[in-house]
Amino acid sequence: MKNLLAYNTFKINSTCDNLFEFYDIAGLKLLLTSYGSGVKVLGGGSNVLMMTSHFDTIFINRIKGIQILDENEDYCLVEVGAGENWHQFVMWAVYHNLGGLENLALIPGTVGAAPIQNIGAYGTEQQSSFVSLKALNRKGLFTTVFENAVCEFGYRDSVFKNELKDQFIITHVTYRFDKKPIANNSYKDVKEKLQSKNITHPSIKDIAETVIEIRSAKLPDPKVIGNAGSFFKNPVISKSAFENLVVNFPDMPHYLVDESFIKIPAAWLIDQSGLKGYRKGDTGTHINQALVIVNHGSATGEEIFDMAMHIQKVVFEKFKVTIEPEVNIW
Ligand code: FAD
Ligand code: EPU
Repeated sequence: MKNLLAYNTFKINSTCDNLFEFYDIAGLKLLLTSYGSGVKVLGGGSNVLMMTSHFDTIFINRIKGIQILDENEDYCLVEVGAGENWHQFVMWAVYHNLGGLENLALIPGTVGAAPIQNIGAYGTEQQSSFVSLKALNRKGLFTTVFENAVCEFGYRDSVFKNELKDQFIITHVTYRFDKKPIANNSYKDVKEKLQSKNITHPSIKDIAETVIEIRSAKLPDPKVIGNAGSFFKNPVISKSAFENLVVNFPDMPHYLVDESFIKIPAAWLIDQSGLKGYRKGDTGTHINQALVIVNHGSATGEEIFDMAMHIQKVVFEKFKVTIEPEVNIW
């Protein structure tokens, strides 16, 4: 029996009977043939809450490699193994002055998980550089290429969280990088931090370093305290629902999604509900970021889930807005 403590950033003490790493498609096919298509697949375990105390079989993605497929003076097309560390891949691109993903520096986890929830931060989502991915069908053991348009990327969303959930295992992802990159400093925090450093014409290296500084100051390090980043998605509500809400809460921060929808920061809703830094036993919300649920030591997956449900209920009672988990509940 294997302990999974080192395989999930929430530091949940679940166990499993069989834990296997796969290094290529052939190895993955062999494992699926032996253990069946219903197994669990992990990358870095940074977006999973293990509610189940014991699993049968878990596979860990270790497919590595960074390969340039095509390039000219304007762009570079790069295929990367799904088991590569995301941050290291971003920094590889920054080092080669290949622009597009630098605002996503320091996001934990693997490249293969990035398209699943279409990771995003500081003004960029991975979809804007994403070209295609290669994935193995769990049951048929055939490989399919998914182009950007069929992935149905949205805010923390893709087809792999919906119609194709648990049907494919991503083995490679291809990104298109800009060789004449234009730094994206549109996000308020990034702009302010660059100004404080007197950087007026940032390079993509400046952006990556600035994002790393902001993230290191704001978000708890899972090596120090168990967490999976934002536990909930920021709710997107209709303009009319927003107009009703803002009458009672005129200071509510909000971002325009499009003409009909508004995004509200869940961190603010939780904070205003009096739950920032709230603790019960070994779980609660982080003292500096109300949207991050933490494991102070030996909380179980169930205790963390109960905490999440409590937060959801309190927020709904105050604002009549439902906040939905972003983290995958296992
Ligand atoms: P895992 O947690 O291992 O897996 C997540 C899900 O994807 C699981 O359901 C798993 O089965 C599935 N999966 C994983 N790999 C594959 C594969 N190859 N094929 C098929 N399915 C697969 N996210 C953001 O978007 N923006 C942020 O700013 C951000 N900040 C974070 C900060 C912290 C401190 C932490 C802990 C997390 C943060 N996250 C953020 C969440 C997390 O880093 C991302 O969701 C990341 O992409 C998860 O990668 P992973 O390899 O750890 O995935
Ligand atoms: N805020 C509070 N109280 C808090 C924390 C924040 O009121 O305790 C307010 C802030 O003042 C700000 C707003 O909430 O007005 C938003 O806060 P922040 O800029 O920290 O961003 P966020 O909405 O909490 C989102 C993503 C993060 C991503 C950052 C930067 C989601 C669910 N979360 O956080 O992604 O890194 O923006 O782009 O969209 C993740 O997905 O795991 C994650 C960390």
